[in-house]
Formats: sequence, C-alpha cells, structure tokens
Amino acid sequence: MLLKLKGLEKRYGKQRALKSLDLELGPDLSSLVLIGPSGGGKSTLLRILGALETPTSGSASVNSQHNTPETKEVTLREARRSHGYLFQSFNLFPHLNALQNITLPLEKVHGRTSDEAQQRAQACLERFNLGDHSHKRPAELSGGQQQRVGIARAIAHEPQLLILDEPTSALDPEMTAEVLEVIKQLREAGQEIILSTHEMGFARAVADQVLFLADGEVLEHGTGEAVFETPATPEAQRFLSKVMHYR
Ligand SMILES: Nc1ncnc2c1ncn2[C@@H]1O[C@H](COP(=O)(O)OP(=O)(O)OP(=O)(O)O)[C@@H](O)[C@H]1O
Ligand SMILES: [Mg+2]
Repeated sequence: MLLKLKGLEKRYGKQRALKSLDLELGPDLSSLVLIGPSGGGKSTLLRILGALETPTSGSASVNSQHNTPETKEVTLREARRSHGYLFQSFNLFPHLNALQNITLPLEKVHGRTSDEAQQRAQACLERFNLGDHSHKRPAELSGGQQQRVGIARAIAHEPQLLILDEPTSALDPEMTAEVLEVIKQLREAGQEIILSTHEMGFARAVADQVLFLADGEVLEHGTGEAVFETPATPEAQRFLSKVMHYR
C-alpha cells in the first residue's frame, strides 16, 4: 500500500489528537502496525485512514483514496465500502447469528445476491474454523470466536485494506493467540493490513513497518526491529521499556 500523510491534523475542540503528521510509506508495504501509549492518537489515525472521519486540516491518502477536510460524505462512504474494519469490541449485531452478521452487510452494503452472500459468508467462517458455529448468535460464542466472526465479516467483501483497531484488547491470552493467528494468516496470504495493538511481540512479528504514536505525533517509524531494538526518542524508549518489562 501507499500511505501519505501531509500536515495531517485532527482536533476535537481544543484538543489536538493528531498534530501535523507528515509521512510517506510504501508502496512496498503490506502491514503497518501502530503502537504507543493510550491517548496517543492511534484510533484517531485509523478512523481517518478508514474514511470514518475527515481531518481538521492537511490530508491522508491510502492507495488512491484521499481524505481532506473537504472530502464529501459520498466519497467517504465509497472509501468505507472498499475497506474492512474490526474494532476492539461490540462488533457484531447481537440479534443476528454469525452467518447473518456476514450476509447482511454483503447484501445491503456490497450489493451481493442472497445466494452469493450465503456462500461467501459460509466460506469465510470455514476459513477461520467457525463453520460449525454459523447458527450461533454472538452471546453464544466465546470472545475469540466473536472476534474471528468479526474478521470474517471484515474480509468477506475482499477489501483491499483491512483496518483493525486493537482487535484483541478485550480477550484473554488464549483467545488473543487465536485471533492473532488468524491475522497472521491473512497477512501471509497478502492482505493489506493497518492495525493498532498493545501486543508488542505480535506487532514486531507481523509489521513491515511500525509507527510509534504518542501525544498526537509520530515519534518513530521503521521496521519492527529498528523501532523495538533501537528506539531513538526518549518517549519510545520509556514506553518500550515499560511494556516489555514483564515479557
Ligand atoms: N471523538 C472524540 N472527541 C473528543 N476527543 C477525542 C475523540 N476521540 C479521541 N479523542 C481524544 O484524542 C486523543 C487521541 O485518542 P485516540 O483514541 O486516538 O488514542 P489511542 O492512541 O487510540 O489510545 P488507546 O490506546 O487508549 O486506544 C485522546 O486524548 C482522546 O481523548
Ligand atoms: Mg485506541
């Protein structure tokens, strides 16, 4: 993917969640991982890259999609349709079973026929070992299974880019491992992914590039090895020594 941020700023009232980011990455980039302290701006950046919000000033482009303060709602909506998303929790419709959670957006948002949607949804569930759970509603699935259904739904329309915001933060270690394995497989199959995580070992293992965001700024970026082994800024050194301490 090709990622370009130019003077990208996002303010909420007086608060500057992103402070004039300038960055160009790719095109030889298939997985980008955002790390950094809470409140640093990861989710905000993911929402802008995913066309869920417009910036306050500057621009963000992923591949051929541009997001500026002037970007129209209809353009944002089209961009959103072309991505797949997964957020930390509350992803699934509680009143629909696993299969219906996938077929509904395929039919309503992506214009697939009912037959196509059924086949595609079943295939996606099977891909993540959920074939036997398609009739269950979210409350009848484990947290890890729910997140895997969420990932199956996010990729069911074959998005070019998959955006995952802390996909495992609500999960226990075993379920986390289960979901991380699925994400790793997708990456190995060539899926373009941008994700944020507090799982540092995973970040390092799957990232072509790591961005360290703190206080609305990109303080470090580079390969996992570079960012984790030789962080240049005191902020990243402090953050990494804290989060790696017990690993
Ligand atoms: N909709 C909003 N309205 C007001 N302030 C917001 C909004 N969204 C985010 N912020 C603020 O912007 C800053 C960045 O938040 P963001 O959610 O992007 O951080 P984060 O890096 O994802 O943190 P975490 O690791 O806790 O998820 C925070 O200070 C947050 O309070
Ligand atoms: Mg966040």
